[in-house]
Parts: sequence; C-alpha cells; structure tokens
Amino acid sequence: MENERRIAEHMPDESCDAAGKICESCDEAGKICDAYDETGKICDTAGKICDAVEKSCGEMCVRERIEALRQAVCGNGLSVHGEASANGDLPADQEASANGGPSADWEAPANGSSLADREASTDSSLSADQEAPANGGLSAVAGTSESGALKGDLWVSPDGLCALYQARSAGFCFGVRRAVDTVYEQIEKGIRPIYTYGPIIHNEVVVRDLEEKGVRVIQSVEELRRIRSGTVIIRSHGVGRDIYSIIESNGLRVVDATCPFVKKIHRIVEQKGKEGAEVIIIGSASHPEVQGIRGWSTGEVTVIETEEEARSFVPRTDKPLCVVSQTTFNLKKFHKFVEIMKGLRYHEFAVLNTICNATEERQTEARSIARLADCMIVIGGKHSSNTQKLYEICQKECSNTYFVQAFDDLNLRLVPFRGIVGISAGASTPNILIEEVSNLCRKTILSRC
Ligand code: F3S
Repeated sequence: MENERRIAEHMPDESCDAAGKICESCDEAGKICDAYDETGKICDTAGKICDAVEKSCGEMCVRERIEALRQAVCGNGLSVHGEASANGDLPADQEASANGGPSADWEAPANGSSLADREASTDSSLSADQEAPANGGLSAVAGTSESGALKGDLWVSPDGLCALYQARSAGFCFGVRRAVDTVYEQIEKGIRPIYTYGPIIHNEVVVRDLEEKGVRVIQSVEELRRIRSGTVIIRSHGVGRDIYSIIESNGLRVVDATCPFVKKIHRIVEQKGKEGAEVIIIGSASHPEVQGIRGWSTGEVTVIETEEEARSFVPRTDKPLCVVSQTTFNLKKFHKFVEIMKGLRYHEFAVLNTICNATEERQTEARSIARLADCMIVIGGKHSSNTQKLYEICQKECSNTYFVQAFDDLNLRLVPFRGIVGISAGASTPNILIEEVSNLCRKTILSRC
C-alpha cells in the first residue's frame, strides 16, 4: 500500500511507538497524518512520529495547530510572546508580574495589550452594553468567529511544539473589580467598621485578606438587623429593596457596589412591575443576584432555572409577561427557554436579554481555546457559579480540563509535553493567582524543551 510505503520510508528504525509501528489512530485510519503526508517527513524534528501525530489521524500536527493558533491571535491584531512586538516592548502586565513574566527564551510574538488597555476595553464594553438594546450584544456574539474570540496572550516554546494561551477575559470582570476596589478604598480611607453584605466575591483568598484588614462579612438578613453602626458595602450581585430599607432604618451607612449591569435589571424589573407586568427571571433561584432582582419587583415573579420549568410554566396572571435573565446565565439555555415559553403562545411577551457581555466573552473565548487545547486549566473558587459554568464549557470541548482553586492545586504532571495549554478563569479570580499559574506553566513547559 502507498501509505505503508511512505511509513517504511520515513519511519526511523527505533520507532517511538513501543509496538514498533505508527500510532494506533493512524494505523486504524489506514493512513498517515496529514502533516506527515504533506511534508513528506516526520514533522517532529526529533525524529519521532508519535509526538508529532496528534490525538487522531487527520488532525493537524501539534506544530501546525500551534501555528494556526498563532495566526488567529496575530490576526486579531496581537503578537505572540517571545517574538518581536511592534514596539519591541513586553506588555505592561508582564513586566509587572511577580516573577518577571515570560522568559526571553520563549519564542516571542506577544500580545501588546497592557493591563490598562484591558481595563479600558472593559469599561468601553460597559457603556456599549448599557447603551445598546438589551439583546444588542447577541448578534455580535453569534457572528463572532472562533478565531475572532482568541485575543489573549500566547506563548510558544522555542521548539514550536508547545504553546500556552491565557485568555484575555480570564479573571475579574468590570463589576467584580469595581466592588473589590470599593472595599479596599473604604479601608484606605480609614472607615471603620466595614461590613460586606455577603462575601464581596467568591474567592477565599480575597475574602480572607479583607477579613485580616478588619472587614466583616454579614451572612444573613438576621445578622444585618442586629448591626447598629458602621458601613455596609453591597457587592456586585446587588440586593433587593428590603436590604436597603434595613440598612437605612438601622442608621447604617451604605456603599453601593452593585454592578451597573445588575442595577439595570433592578430598574427594568421595578419599572415593569409598576406597569403591571408579570416578571420571569431566567436564572438560579438560589443565586443572590436573582434574589436581589426579585426583590425589586412589585408584582408577580417567577424564576425559571431548568428546561422542565420553562415547559411547565403557567402565568400567574393574565398581565403582559416580561423576561429578564441572571447576568451570568448560559446564553444558549436562555434562548432555548425563551423559545419554549414563546411556543406556549402567551399574548404579550417581552424578552430582555440581560446576560452580561463579560460572561459571554469569557465563555466564548474559553470555548474557542478549549476546542484547540490539549489541556485546559480553569482557575477559580469552587463556590463561583460562573467558574463552574466555565469549567463545564471547557470540559465539553477538552476532556483534559482541570479546575484549579489555588496555586497548590496545580498538578504540573497534567501539563502536556506537547501541544496547547489553555488558561481561563472565572470572574472572581484575582489576577495574581492567574499570573502565578500561568508563569509556572510556562516555566514547566520551557524546562522540558
Ligand atoms: Fe457585572 Fe457582568 Fe461582572 S454583570 S459583575 S460585569 S459578570
């Protein structure tokens, strides 16, 4: 056979496959991998075929896949770490990183965006979202090509066989950053005592640090009722109207760090309630954000969390229906549930897609890199629902997806010797943790080259 002839011609005597033949997937498919075929020689310069042949025959070899990723990243106007950037500088966030950022040994092309740029872009996405109609972001996201979502940092090893991609959207979203900054600002101003209504974010490291600085977490309404002096900071999830009333009647000072996107939903629900509409919130009934949204309605509210609930939904009134969503709800599920409920043919049915762009962007980027990756690392707290959703999305695309809560959870043996490692993180994951994990992965990969 032609393929057998090719194999015989190009296989080194000491095949890397213990069985002394080409890897099983190629063998089964009856042909050699595309890269081998095209180049007429083994694509791994080390002279081993199995390292170069990907998970299954027909997939691009590692080198080609990394090159495709590089082109996607560069196509989005970015460069790759290690290669000369337009101005020859490393991004500001790398320069500032704890252990010096990427080593000069890495082959360079680098993302020239600075941390400041990222913050600026987050801000601009906020205003865009606020100005756009509630579902305005949807078509833009639907129209985004997979490569278009890849706007993060890419490092490629000198031998071109290993790459690490760090999602641009990994970590604190605008609302969480704003809430955390607010607490630190209050501390710096010398305000005492400071309370947060619930943990400011779902991250034990940050919450512990704040506790050490004297910030106390109020765990329940009952606890809040007992407090008679001090400042209460409302976290990005927001709260219902009743919580503001308790704070006010107890003579407490309130600092409102509710995310503006969430605040917008409060206003919608309040207004629609006044207009006599029945409100449907698509989201998790037990999530504080949903409880807070619910707390702004003056009329009937139903929370729909599952497909079953959408199918069995029966309006409580004959008033117009208004649908909103938890900001971090899965977009696909949201549309599915809306379609199901629309099929039930209620007369007036207004749908406001209030899913946050930050979540969409994070999920789209994570999905895109997970499709290409040999190993995905998702960093975040175990109580963070958006990190868990991110993990589920990545796991669907890449079976080697790992949940890392703290630096110590990172098992470096899981980082592959060849291929693409992707890193993403939930909205409440501190940047310092992401950088630590990313730096260690890069060092590990480099040490193997
Ligand atoms: Fe706000 Fe979106 Fe973050 S709603 S808290 S910016 S995920």
